[in-house]
This record gives sequence, C-alpha cells and structure tokens, in this order.
Amino acid sequence: VLQIREVTVGLLGCGVVGSALAELIHAEEKEIAASAGVKLNITKALVRDTEKDRNGLKKKLSFTKELEEVFKDKELDVVVELLGGEETALAAVKKGLEAGRNVVTANKLILSAHGEELNQLANRNGCSLAYEASVASCIPVLQSLDVTLAAENFHAVTGILNGTTNFILSQMERGNLPYGEALALAQQKGLAETDPSLDVSGQDAAHKLVILARKAFNISLTPADIPTAGITNVSAEDLRFAAHFGCTVKLLAVARKRNGKLEARVAPHLVPTGHTFASINDESNAVVLEGEAVGKLLFAGPGAGALPTARAVLGDILSIVTGERACIPGRKALNLAKIPLASPEETRSRYYLRVAFNDQPHVLAQVTCILDACGVEVHRVEALGLGQGNIVILTHPATEAAVSASLAELAELDFLTERPKAFPIFDEPQSN
Ligand code: NAP
Ligand code: HSE
Repeated sequence: VLQIREVTVGLLGCGVVGSALAELIHAEEKEIAASAGVKLNITKALVRDTEKDRNGLKKKLSFTKELEEVFKDKELDVVVELLGGEETALAAVKKGLEAGRNVVTANKLILSAHGEELNQLANRNGCSLAYEASVASCIPVLQSLDVTLAAENFHAVTGILNGTTNFILSQMERGNLPYGEALALAQQKGLAETDPSLDVSGQDAAHKLVILARKAFNISLTPADIPTAGITNVSAEDLRFAAHFGCTVKLLAVARKRNGKLEARVAPHLVPTGHTFASINDESNAVVLEGEAVGKLLFAGPGAGALPTARAVLGDILSIVTGERACIPGRKALNLAKIPLASPEETRSRYYLRVAFNDQPHVLAQVTCILDACGVEVHRVEALGLGQGNIVILTHPATEAAVSASLAELAELDFLTERPKAFPIFDEPQSN
C-alpha cells in the first residue's frame, strides 16, 4: 500500500496563478497522491486583500495579510511565491531560503535581477529553488537545460518569450483588434503582468532571456546588459508593410555568442513568414536552443495564462518533494563566468527602416543621403502607404550603432509625420 506523505505548502499570492494552483491541488488530490505519494496541504495563503471574493476558494483555504502567519508553521516544506513585483517577493523568497525552506517561484523579475544571489543562498542552506514557470510558463525549457542538456555547449538562445505581446501582435496582424483593445483582452485573460508595462516594454522578455542565457551559457548577466525595446512602437502599418516584404513582426529575445562576445537584445523583429517563429501566435511562446551537439532544439507551447503556469509550478513542487529533480542549483547556476558583451558597433543585422512624411520632393534623396553618411547600405527601398507617404527601406547588414545614428539624424528632418523607426530583420544566428 502506497504511504501518503503530508507536505505543507505556504502559498504567497493567490491571484491568476496562485488561485489556479490552489484549485489544481484541491481538484487533483487523488491523482497527486497516486502519482507522487504526497498530499499537499496549503496551510495559509498570503494576499493583499483578505475581504476579496475568491470564487469559492475561501471555503478551502485560509487567507492572511501577514507573511509571518505563513512562516510560523514549523512544518513548512515548500514556500510558493506567486506575488509578483520585486520588494516583498524578494524578501519573502530570501526569508524562505534563509530558513532552509524549499522555494518555488514564477517571478522572473526577481530571478533576473537577484537570481545569482538566490541560487547561492539556496545552495548554502541546502534547499531547493525551482522556477520552471518563470520562463515560457509550462514549456519545460529550464528543466531541459538543467538536466538533459546540462553538458551541452550552446551558442545561441532565441525566443518569443512574452505571451501578452505575442497575443497583441497576432490580434493586430489579423486585423481583429487594435493595440489598446488587444492589451485589455490579454489582461482579462490573465496573460499580462500586474503592471503590463513590463510586457509591452519588452522588459519581461529581457528578464526571461537573462534566466535562459545564464543557464545556457553559464554566464553572469543582468537585465541592464540587454538592450531592450518593446512593441509600443509597432503599428498596424508596420505589420502591413512587413507582410508586403513576406514577413511578420515578432518580439524576439536573442542571445548569441559571436567572436567570443555575447550579443543580446530584445526587440520587435521582422520574421520571414516561412520561419517557425512566424507561426507561433497568440499567447504561445517558442524557444530555440542552438548547441554544438544538439543542433537546433525547438520548444513551443503556451507561454502564459493561469492553468499552464500553475501546472508548471505544481510540477516544480512535486519534483522537489519527491526528490525526483535535483533542484539544488549546484549546476550551471553557481560560479558564473563573465563574458564581454558585444558593443553596438559590433552588433550587425539587416534592418527594416520606415520614414513617414508629408509628401514633398527630394525626400528619398535626403533619406538615402543620411543613411549613406551613417554607413547604412540600402538593399531595397519602396514608397508605401495611402494618404501619407512612407519610405520603407530594407538595409544590408549594418551595425546597431550606425542604424541608431541614422535614426537620430533622420528624426531632425522637418517633413516627418512620425519618428523614424527601425526593426532588425531576423536572420538565423551565424555564431561561433
Ligand atoms: P496577480 O494575479 O496580480 O496575483 C498576485 C497575488 O499576490 C494576489 O493574490 C495579490 O493579492 C498578492 N499580492 C501581491 N502583492 C502582495 C503583497 N505585497 N502582499 C500580499 N499579497 C500580495 O499575479 P499573477 O498573474 O498570478 O502572477 C504571479 C507571479 O507569476 C508573477 O511573478 C508573474 O510574473 C508570474 N507569472 C505569471 C504568469 C501569468 O500568465 N499570469 C505566467 C508566468 C509567471 P490580492 O489577491 O489581494 O490582490
Ligand atoms: N506576462 C507574461 C507573458 C506572463 O505575457 O508572457 C508569462 O510569463
């Protein structure tokens, strides 16, 4: 007869993900006992507002506003941090690890900024810190990096790492919803961060890229190392013009080693419609890992949302309490190497560049003259758009520095109707 072990879980946060997790633990009690031999008991759930209606969860869970209430349980086995934000969440995770409690979190913000310290803390205190849900929700990419691919030599990690922005771009591209309504729907669906500016500014994707790159390349990195642009600058016209060139627009996070340096960025990219990333739509995410032995590995699936994320959190809890996953982060998370970052002068890409203007003569000549002076070579140029003039240029490979300089100069022209913009065109990494 299978012995069922009682496991005490302290739940910090009972919002979109926390409440889905609590529901799963209750609904699947028998399955969890049968497969893992444990019964998970959520003793207390920390929330801001204990008066809030919680869709029947109040009958099953005891809520508190006091962190101490959760920690005072001497039997506490696992602390699950699903608060979001930085300060309180970081303090709670540290408190858990310092007390030798195992911690599961989905908080990429604290992991990207403080992950190295938290991994050290877990290691020193002999407890586990697991965070599969922090990157691409239930797509098991971190576990793959930690376990199956632990010894691989990777040279590139590329992905669509934010469900909210991918959802918004997909809605805009299909002509279903404009930007603002698509964002509101993403929030309603529980995809967006509590502060959605983290999603649309590209920061959330940058946080995830830091976590992935640390594991894949065994390097020390922070979000400040990653030049980051979001999707607020992508208009319906850009999506139409991209389609004219056989491309779609995706917010990509790219980190690759080239000439002994790390090139990393988060930015909207033009992606050819035949490329795998072009078919990753709505809140789906995709990650491509490129390594010496494994070649290209594609991971794709739901990248945000209550249930997929809660499923990944539950998986981490069960792997810790059953001891099936070596979560003590001794591998690829400690003693990280420093790697020089490629400068804007060293980072090259082809670009889509758009200048919107009030119709008048010699516009094209002025634009191409500026590009030429900045060292940006034109590959293809077209005048597009109804009513308002647009010069859309696809460049030959140019440095990020040259493109930034040309954008600054173009912005000085007096016939513009919008600030000029440039998005990289995604080419398969040519790394070494
Ligand atoms: P959420 O819906 O805003 O829930 C946050 C929960 O934490 C709420 O229950 C809130 O209490 C509580 N809380 C926040 N700050 C608190 C504080 N200072 N003191 C006490 N309670 C506090 O957020 P979520 O979408 O579930 O996200 C939780 C975490 O998972 C975040 O780190 C997020 O980045 C990550 N994540 C989310 C997704 C997703 O698809 N949503 C996917 C992957 C990872 P009240 O209920 O009283 O407001
Ligand atoms: N807000 C995040 C996203 C949640 O949209 O991808 C998943 O990490």
